[in-house]
Amino acid sequence: MWILAVCLFMLAQVAVEAGPASEQCMCSQLHHPQEKFCSSDFAFRVEILNGSDSPGPGEEDNGEYYQSYFVYAVRIVEVFKTNLTLVDVRAGDLLDIYNPQKGMCGKTNLYDREARSNDYLLTGYIGESSNGIIYAGITSCNWVRKWINVTDVQLEGMRGSYEWCNCTVYPVSGEMHRNKPARDRFDLETCLYNPVAAHQLKVADCETSSGVCVWDGEASKCTWRYDGQFKRCYDSRLNTLSNEGKAAIASMKDCSLYTGKKRRLCKIKFLKAIKNSA
Ligand SMILES: *[C@@H]1O[C@H](CO)[C@@H](O)[C@H](O)[C@H]1NC(C)=O
Ligand SMILES: *[C@@H]1O[C@H](CO)[C@@H](O)[C@H](O)[C@H]1NC(C)=O
Ligand SMILES: *[C@@H]1O[C@H](CO)[C@@H](O)[C@H](O)[C@H]1NC(C)=O
Ligand SMILES: *[C@@H]1O[C@H](CO)[C@@H](O)[C@H](O)[C@H]1NC(C)=O
Repeated sequence: MWILAVCLFMLAQVAVEAGPASEQCMCSQLHHPQEKFCSSDFAFRVEILNGSDSPGPGEEDNGEYYQSYFVYAVRIVEVFKTNLTLVDVRAGDLLDIYNPQKGMCGKTNLYDREARSNDYLLTGYIGESSNGIIYAGITSCNWVRKWINVTDVQLEGMRGSYEWCNCTVYPVSGEMHRNKPARDRFDLETCLYNPVAAHQLKVADCETSSGVCVWDGEASKCTWRYDGQFKRCYDSRLNTLSNEGKAAIASMKDCSLYTGKKRRLCKIKFLKAIKNSA
């Protein structure tokens, strides 16, 4: 946990220090895939053909050892989103995708020549270099996944159901919910996003894998779309958190989910678990 905290702190520092530079990695906040999709200029499924150090877009390679960019040569497999005026690509086209190396923006380990597949989801920004070259770029803050790890609901989201880009998915840290019973650390009624709690409680992070935040006109607010895989995931998690002490108990306080003998058993179980993990 503290490693994550330190990383977040460092990223926050970078964000502050980077100032108004054109590439900065402001990823101190947690963001849901839908928000990352909405805030990016492009989203492609690609096959990465190779990756190498590179001068900036449109710059001459003057043979200097220090290179400010990494570049991936990719073949486009599917276009989910782009600005056709700026980057007009279709399935089958080749494209260079730039990754700035400064400001902790680097993401240089995507291409693996030994791997069976180098298919990725890449989302990123469309930038303009100082010499006027329009290019596609990614940073460590963008949503980048091995294609095999993109879920069906995320794919469907990019093909259309992530349409409510005016909804906010609220990230909530585990800390803020420390004193709440485990089952109350997630919420259907607002688009609450709590991957930290899911991780701590060792339960599914349904919001990331299958959550789509939609505008509910009747209730006049944004809520998680409660159907299909998300409904199954959410219900099963709630059930686990409500009924099985084992998964729900992240701290002794969580035993207050129960009363009487069950509460005592829960505390004993918790103490045993501590002893076993010591
Ligand atoms: C990367 O692949 C592209 C497309 O096949 C090719 O044009 C380019 O020369 C390759 N670069 C390196 C460094 O191998
Ligand atoms: C695409 O980029 C152009 C030039 O910056 C801009 O005028 C246009 O609004 C953009 N289109 C979309 C759909 O974002
Ligand atoms: C991605 O998928 C592979 C194969 O299904 C799995 O082994 C791996 O744990 C997944 N990685 C992540 C980060 O989900
Ligand atoms: C989102 O957009 C819809 C349709 O344009 C609108 O009715 C709704 O008020 C907007 N919601 C928010 C939270 O801005």
